Formats: sequence, structure tokens, C-alpha cells
Amino acid sequence: MAGSVLPPGVSRRRFLSAVGTAGGAGAMFATMGALGLAPTAHASPRYEPPRRSDFALTGRGAAKVVVLGGGIAGLAAAYELTKGGYDCTVLEAADRPGGRNFTARGGTVQTDLRGDTQTAAFSEGIYLNAGPARIAQWMVTLDYCRELGVPVEVFTNTNASAFVYNEAAGMRQPERIRTTKADVYGYVSELLAKATDRGALDSELTATDKERLLDFLRDWGAIGNKASGWRYAGTSRRGYSTDPGAGDQAGVPLGPVPSLARTFAEGAGRYLSFDFAYEQAMLMFQPVGGMDRIPLALARALGPRRLRLRTAVTGITNTADKVGVAFLEPNGTQGHLVADFCVAALPPRVLARIPHNLGPEIQAALGKWQIGTAAKIGLEYRSRWWETDCRIYGGITHTDLDIERIWYPSHGFHGPRGLLVNYCYGNHARQYGDLAPDARAQRAVEQGVKIHGGKHRTELASAFSVAWHLMPHIESAWATPPLGTPAYQLLGKPAGRVYFAGDWLTHLTAWQAGAFESARLAVRQLHERVLSP
Ligand code: ALA
Repeated sequence: MAGSVLPPGVSRRRFLSAVGTAGGAGAMFATMGALGLAPTAHASPRYEPPRRSDFALTGRGAAKVVVLGGGIAGLAAAYELTKGGYDCTVLEAADRPGGRNFTARGGTVQTDLRGDTQTAAFSEGIYLNAGPARIAQWMVTLDYCRELGVPVEVFTNTNASAFVYNEAAGMRQPERIRTTKADVYGYVSELLAKATDRGALDSELTATDKERLLDFLRDWGAIGNKASGWRYAGTSRRGYSTDPGAGDQAGVPLGPVPSLARTFAEGAGRYLSFDFAYEQAMLMFQPVGGMDRIPLALARALGPRRLRLRTAVTGITNTADKVGVAFLEPNGTQGHLVADFCVAALPPRVLARIPHNLGPEIQAALGKWQIGTAAKIGLEYRSRWWETDCRIYGGITHTDLDIERIWYPSHGFHGPRGLLVNYCYGNHARQYGDLAPDARAQRAVEQGVKIHGGKHRTELASAFSVAWHLMPHIESAWATPPLGTPAYQLLGKPAGRVYFAGDWLTHLTAWQAGAFESARLAVRQLHERVLSP
């Protein structure tokens, strides 16, 4: 197969060495990749940004593009198009770029759709990533961080020392994730080993399979041998009540081990699969200093002339050879801009409210996305008691309380102060959104005290919260696409001269990677059209 792309009579080795001589090691490696001879480092299809030189042979020039929305998709579309010499203008309704990529720092002011205004009172160096806050290693977002010079650091998504706590299931106190893991894996292993040994799986397993499975289970669940009835009796994997130390201090393993019935009744095992997800597996990353380093870097690359803030779109008119966009200027006067193309990178619900002439099918399709919400409540503390008292350095506590999760900071260890984040979805987010900001913080603290005790209240310095359905110009945390439906197909293509972009048009909903990938797709489609005869 690979050989068939070579000129007749040329061996792979001779061909590659000629490419290497002419184009260097990079060209040779790329060619090896194309021939299927090199390991591929990345599973995504290769993306080539538009280049000014693409126009050299066509006699055409780059076009004028108006981009609606200065979130990640809009900024990335403009950034990529600008590489090819396109004349881009991004219209963003808010007073900052980034959309849902929103980092609150001391002095950040935000008014929500309820009319509540918060001014973050965070101290120097403290910030809340109110929107996206973690990046998986395989995501294109990291490539943009590299390209834009945004330094990243590890975001600790899972930590065996963090807690699980299911109040409704009768847990009397929070339990370390390592303890839950030891008990759940232990009992599952015990049950499976017993079933295997008793022959209950004989129709599925050969004698050798059974032996191998039992070996695995003994290791995975730290269970006893056949003589002990494969019993799980707890091990130091659960943790210690007194840690091992010097001299005679062997440590006191944590006990007593709850019964199998109790372990499953508490239901804490449900949190253990969280980081099995492709999107959530460690290592994960965050930009140093706040997630908004990404949109700020994109905005810097575009320059102030191309990004117009406090400019809300009020109308879209597609014609045979142009697109007209009406908007409100920062001073409230009506503005109008005509371009060759438009990239509409607004959330579908917001886009659907803007008068346009794209037709009823487009309008109906925009209504097919399912709107989701989420809330984040950032609590700044005067001391990092979770490090000193709980020995928790980053990671996430999972609960069945309405705050759902407590995130510990992955940076600033041993510093004077730090910020915990409560993060909930759906109805819980709506319930918090229904409260005034002070009441949200108060409620979150009441919940957190159940896990962390008094310091969760007494050390609190300030709070700032965002309920995404109440954020102006955004009104949702994400919009789940109707994948595989005509509506999804329809908006994946341009409507006249209007292209759509956003994480909502991808299989990466609620990830910045989705916004970047979608922007790239729209840019590729647009650029191919401009270049086509
Ligand atoms: N991508 C979002 C998160 O990681 C949903 O929480």
C-alpha cells in the first residue's frame, strides 16, 4: 500500500533519504508519517492554517470576515484567518474577551441577569476560573498555549487524599478517596474471586483464564487467598489513623473496615470512575495565573483594532455576495459592518434571538440544542487549612450535597491564602443562581462545614460566584448538540455566507478544545471556498 505512492523503481529508503536531504529531518519524518512508516503522535487530523501564500497562484485575495462573539471559538477563528491575511473584526458584547473563559480576580466586576453586581475582593494572586478550568493532555488547547506562549502547570483533577461524602446515603463522616477505593475494589474483587472459584463463570473462562483472573484480583483488590475464602479485610491502602514513622512507629492502619453491604449502601464508589473518562484523566493542565491567559493571548495576537468589546450584535443579513451585521456600539449608537463572510460564534440560544435572514430552517435548528447550566462558587480563605490540617494538596472532594464538589487549588502550595471552588450543575446550579451572591456563599459554607468543620467558615475571607445561566450574552454553561440529526448537520455547514462555530458544534461540548476545533473547521471550510475557482 505505502509502496504504491512511490515513483516506480524508487525504494522507500532512497526516497526518504532524498526527502531528508532536500527538506531536513522534519520533512523526512512527515513523509514517513504519510507513508505510514512513522508513529503518529496525535490522533487528530492534521490542521493547516490559512497562509498568505495560498493565494499566490489563484489571483484572489483574502476576504473580509466579521466574527460574532469573542469567546474562544470566535477569537480562534479570527486568529487563524488572520494568519492567512484575512481582514477580521470580532464583535464581543462583554467588556472582556473569552466568553465562558472567565477568570475573576480582585477587582473583577460582574453584573448578572438577576441584576446582582459582585466585585471580587480576592487578594493578590487569588483567582477563580469560573468557566473552564482544566485541560487534558490530548486537547488542542495545549497546542494553542504552546503557540501563544501561555505557560501551563499541572491541574490536579484527582487526589487520593481528597474526600467523598454521601450524606443522603448515611455516611456519618467524609472518607478519603483512597479508603473508598480500597474498600470498593476490595469487595468487588472478593465477590468476583468467589464467583470464579466456585465455577459460576466456567462458561466464560478457561482454567487458565480463571487462574489469571484470580491472580489479578488478589493484587487489584488486595484480597486474601483461596484458604482465606478470598476475603477482603482491609489493608494499609485504606490509609492510617497514625502514619508510619521512625523507630517503633509502624503506623496504625485505618479501621474498622465497613461491611460489604455498608460499602455499597454508601454509594461512594460511583465517584471512582470519574477520571476514567478520556476528558478527565490525569495529568491535566491549567495556564499559570488563570485560564483567561488564553483569550488574553489571542486578543493580544489580534490587536485592539480587530477586537471590538462592548459591541452587541443586533442583526445579521446575508446577501448573494456580502454579509451585513448590525450592532450596538459601546456608546449605544447603532453600527453596521459589511463583510464578505461571517463566523457566528455565539451560543445557539443567544444567536437564535438575533434577527437574521438565514431562514426558518436555521432558526429551528438553533432551537434543538439542549441548554445546560453550572455554577461555581469561589471561596477565598485566609489560610490554607486544607493543606496544613487535612493534608490535601489539590484535587477534588465529591459529595451528594448541593455544592456537589470542592476543588482544592493546584497551585500556590504553602502560600498564605488560597481559594476553594464549589462546582455544581443543573438544578443545584439553578438553586444557587436563585440566591443573591452573599446567600450563595453562606449556603456553600454551611455545606462545606459538614466535610471540613469550622475553619471552612471561620477562615473565609471573601467569595465570588457565577451561575452560568445568569451570565449576560451567554446564558448557559454549555449547549448539548443533537448529534447525528439534520439540525447538527445543517449548522455544521455555512448558511449562505455565515459560518457557525463553537464547542456546541462538536463532540467536545463544554470544552475549550471543542471551540478551537470548531473554529478550525469553519476556517478551513471558509478558506477552501475562497480559494476555490
Ligand atoms: N468541561 C467541563 C468540566 O470539565 C464540563 O467540568
